[in-house]
Amino acid sequence: MYCTRKVLDDLIWVGADDRRLACFEGVYGVPDGVSYNSYLLLDEKTVLFDTVDKAVFSVFLENVAHALGGRALDYLVIHHMEPDHAATLELLLQRHPETTVVCNAKIKAMIAQFFPMDLEGRFQVVKEGDTLNTGKHSFSFVMAPMVHWPEVMMSYDAADKILFTADAFGTFGALNGRLFADETDFFGEHLDEARRYYTNIVGKYGPQVQAVLKKAAKLDIAYVCPLHGFVWRSHFGDFLEKYLLWSSYTPEEKSVLIAYASVYGHTENAANILACKLAEKGVRVRMYDTSVTPASYIVSDAFRCSHLVFAATTYNAGVFVTMENLLHDLAAHNLQSRKVAVIENGSWAPTSGKVMRELLAPCKNLEFIADNITLKSALAAGQDAQLEALAQAFADELNPAPVVAEPPAVPAAGEYNPEAVNTKAFNKLSYGVELLTTVVDGKDYGCIINSASQAASGDPKKLTISVIKKNHTCDMILKSGVFNVSILTEEAPYSLFKQFGFQSGRDVDKFADVSWTERTANGIRYLPEYTNAVLSCEVVEVVDCGPSTLFVANVVEAKVLSGAPSATYSYYHAHIKPKKNPAPEQKECWVCKVCGYVYEGSELPDDFVCPLCKHGKEDFEHVVPEAKKKQKGYVCKICGHFEPCEGELPEGYTCPLCKHGKEDFEPAEQ
Ligand code: FEO
Repeated sequence: MYCTRKVLDDLIWVGADDRRLACFEGVYGVPDGVSYNSYLLLDEKTVLFDTVDKAVFSVFLENVAHALGGRALDYLVIHHMEPDHAATLELLLQRHPETTVVCNAKIKAMIAQFFPMDLEGRFQVVKEGDTLNTGKHSFSFVMAPMVHWPEVMMSYDAADKILFTADAFGTFGALNGRLFADETDFFGEHLDEARRYYTNIVGKYGPQVQAVLKKAAKLDIAYVCPLHGFVWRSHFGDFLEKYLLWSSYTPEEKSVLIAYASVYGHTENAANILACKLAEKGVRVRMYDTSVTPASYIVSDAFRCSHLVFAATTYNAGVFVTMENLLHDLAAHNLQSRKVAVIENGSWAPTSGKVMRELLAPCKNLEFIADNITLKSALAAGQDAQLEALAQAFADELNPAPVVAEPPAVPAAGEYNPEAVNTKAFNKLSYGVELLTTVVDGKDYGCIINSASQAASGDPKKLTISVIKKNHTCDMILKSGVFNVSILTEEAPYSLFKQFGFQSGRDVDKFADVSWTERTANGIRYLPEYTNAVLSCEVVEVVDCGPSTLFVANVVEAKVLSGAPSATYSYYHAHIKPKKNPAPEQKECWVCKVCGYVYEGSELPDDFVCPLCKHGKEDFEHVVPEAKKKQKGYVCKICGHFEPCEGELPEGYTCPLCKHGKEDFEPAEQ
């Protein structure tokens, strides 16, 4: 029986879940299964985008037949020839002799390699920028070599702004009925498997992923349809931010990964002691036994964490086999730019430290922050100091927040209790950035402000905030009369500012996808992370200040949450808000047509061999840059949006991102 879902009225998901697969690609365990996505478009012409793995061929063929409803299949677009997507291609084409295969030249060659069937006259071979018109829709093709194989391409539909991304933006895990990422708590429940999928499947090809992300940045995208995992139709930017981090080998968090291999527990003991010391210093630790946890999970967290510790016993005059396997995997996946420490163990001739360093040698930009710690069988008396020094070195780098005792519980809002107000919270105020939250009729509202300041020090202490009237949160505070101010720290990610600063609570529920649920005694949400203090306030006076409203409020509860420094407004602009990408300086170079590798320079040696795909000079294209003309316009001083404009911005113009007015724009050229 068929099992399909609509992406849009004329685009049907016809893929399937596989929950019986033990190991994806024969190596990556998938305890939550995996989905093989295929999509059928019902336009004036019908188009199937990719097929599926042979494990689910039966329901797939039923799905296609049902969705076609008796119509012919005009086109089959192939984005990627790996058999988890193309294994059923032959069966499909046998059933549909009327179908034209749309693919690039490399895919055509691979089809001949995998399937010795006669497809003469059934191909439409496309290249970068070519289009396929199907009626209402028009698809343009974007080559994406090495994301994950050299033949990979993507398709973009200008009509409904859909990008079909092949393996990119996929995740491990069956869909379990939920087709769209917004039908799940994606960042709470699925991000770890998305990270494990990315890092293990395409982690090696960061530069190639970055290249295709640059191409995608020029497209207006409303839907992202990958070949595994969920379809994106909202909040895609948050997932894209993860891809930007992963593909540039930038750590997601300041934390220490400890991976250890221990035969009789002595190396593990040292690793545990180090973990305790780190935790006592407030450092976040993620820890794995390499003999227990499959390497793919540890590779994934090595991409996540900023600092790595490898501890292993000597074995066969080398390093213990599960650690050897892990380090080989990390190097093969091109992990780079991490701070590292090594603990070795050996009862008579410890060599594992040397071997571990050799295995990590291919990784670029690794910095060993200490000499190897050498155990002879077990941690000896006095060696505790070595672990303490290593833990302190990590702690100094990671600048952890001190643990602060919770203030006493506060009574219900309205009853002022000086005991509930930790006056140290006021010390966190600066000309900074804050998350302002309130609640009306059980619904949460919030926005970013930069205006909280202490107005009076007597009891009750007073706070003022100024909120732009166009902000929905301003109206909601006028209704509720209460609010929380979460003072943001320098660690606050840009995504937080986008979530609460660049969209309106009139259009979206800003709290729909947040994973935190903490509330103060007044029942209002506050941000528990990236915040060093929260102040709960009751409005006592409202002053109309033209485009803004000034609220004067009693502070009825104040808590210090961490010792992390507050993010000042200037810090936000200098370090958190992404710089407008200056148009990358175009350089003369040679680009590998097979895998996209870029060799900078005007001359490519005749005997040059691509370091990635091993093809020779004949497969390189000489690229000579054209000088680019700058465009005049205005840039928003609040969010950085650039509005091309030759003359003056029109009266009443508001920023499409952050809704600030023309007065917050300044002339710029890009
Ligand atoms: Fe999902 Fe590279 O195949």
